[in-house]
Amino acid sequence: MKFFLDSADVAVIEHWYPTGIVDGVTTNPSLIAKSGQPLHATIAKIAAIAEGDPVSAEVVATDHEGMLREATALSQIAQNVVIKLPMTPDGMSACRDLRARDIRVNVTLVFSLAQALIAAKCGASFVSPFVGRLDDHVAPGAGMQLIDNIVTAYDQYDYDTEVLVASVRSRDHIEEAAVLGADIVTLPPKILGEMYQHPLTDKGLEAFLRDWKESQK
Ligand code: G3P
Repeated sequence: MKFFLDSADVAVIEHWYPTGIVDGVTTNPSLIAKSGQPLHATIAKIAAIAEGDPVSAEVVATDHEGMLREATALSQIAQNVVIKLPMTPDGMSACRDLRARDIRVNVTLVFSLAQALIAAKCGASFVSPFVGRLDDHVAPGAGMQLIDNIVTAYDQYDYDTEVLVASVRSRDHIEEAAVLGADIVTLPPKILGEMYQHPLTDKGLEAFLRDWKESQK
């Protein structure tokens, strides 16, 4: 399973990349706005840190022509920039056009299997179902049920679109997505940090060090 960082904070991405567990980065307009930095310069910095790994940069236009214009400019920043397009009819026709130009697309704001099937048919390289928002707004567990459905359906039709689990709220989401065979999870840095932790690891290490210290007296 691949881990992407869901962040537009260059310092945070610089901190996490050397750990060797990060395989890409996703951003969105809210994260770019939160960073307070200009879009193109920020994506250029992140793309350089990621050294060839996919970096998703989202368009803000909502019409087909505007999306293509923004996508063309974003894709010229670096070869590893992936264009993030919303799951709308205009977004999906732009997805087909970009695919024909060999520009990779990540289809975002996906909340149903029907939407995920359209993204695959339109040639998306990545599909981003938002599991946390489904849990928040539909019912707990609705997000993972969608991941299960997408993974199962994609397998049956040999789609090559990768399932990128987004809107992750907890370590449970990551573990469940891995068991279901999702390709990628994109993680807020805080949750990536939490993945290392277990109370029994701390307790065990404390005991090992205490015993060692006692034996050296
Ligand atoms: O980048 C898309 C997604 O991961 C956003 O998550 O927490 O805003 O629902 P969230």
